[in-house]
Amino acid sequence: MEASPQGPIGIFDSGVGGLTVARAVRQLLPHEDIIYFGDTLHLPYGEKSPEAIIRYSTNITEFLHAYDAKCILIACNSASANAYSSLVKNYPGRLFINVIDPVVSFISKQSYAHVGVIGTKATISAKAYQNRLMSPNMKITAKATPLLAAMIEEGFTSGDVADAVIRAYLGNDPVRHSEALILGCTHYPLIEAGIRNTVTKSCTIIDSPQIVAETVKSKLDEYDISCTRRKPGTIRIFVSDLTPSFARLAALFFGDNVELTEKKS
Ligand code: DGL
Repeated sequence: MEASPQGPIGIFDSGVGGLTVARAVRQLLPHEDIIYFGDTLHLPYGEKSPEAIIRYSTNITEFLHAYDAKCILIACNSASANAYSSLVKNYPGRLFINVIDPVVSFISKQSYAHVGVIGTKATISAKAYQNRLMSPNMKITAKATPLLAAMIEEGFTSGDVADAVIRAYLGNDPVRHSEALILGCTHYPLIEAGIRNTVTKSCTIIDSPQIVAETVKSKLDEYDISCTRRKPGTIRIFVSDLTPSFARLAALFFGDNVELTEKKS
């Protein structure tokens, strides 16, 4: 099927995490319409089997295509690591963008000697970053930090609880000494301040949402499907289970008049 330049960019995640990427896309491409799906009913994806993640991602893809999404941005590392290749294979001719490849390509152009990556169990055990970044000149330290996404979904993005959990994972781990740290879960930019306070001062935190947004822009240009409208784009958000913390964050990121709908599966 031909993608129309006027169709929305489809974006999905298990919950609020992908909003960090949607916000960066919004800032870089303010005229594009966005349709976002947060699969809050099934989170955390990081604890699910690859088969379950593929099934959820396929259902969401069908949903977003029904709204004429011209491309689908998988704003979830767990789904990027486990479902991207199936989606590409099962939907030939459709454009999918994952959140891992743009960051890997960015890091590969730098000269870091030690790169750290933290993410969900599903991302770290799929070795999504480790295999792609493997190089004799670069040490990679990866650590699964499974409680972080659930904690963020519960609204704990700062304060004593968040600080204690971040410290428990990173306080004594070699990952905190990396030269550059990849936040390999789209939820983690929401606790970036706490992470920054826990890792060594010289560690650079990679701005994954911005890097991914730039890739979206260049892919839309490459496929000749950038929108030609000049009025501000709209954003519609669907969730499979509407939670107060999702509503709060959506409003914080996109303003009170963002259209937020519960879509029961
Ligand atoms: N935000 C997601 C990721 O980037 C998933 C978090 C989860 O649902 O476990 O992996």
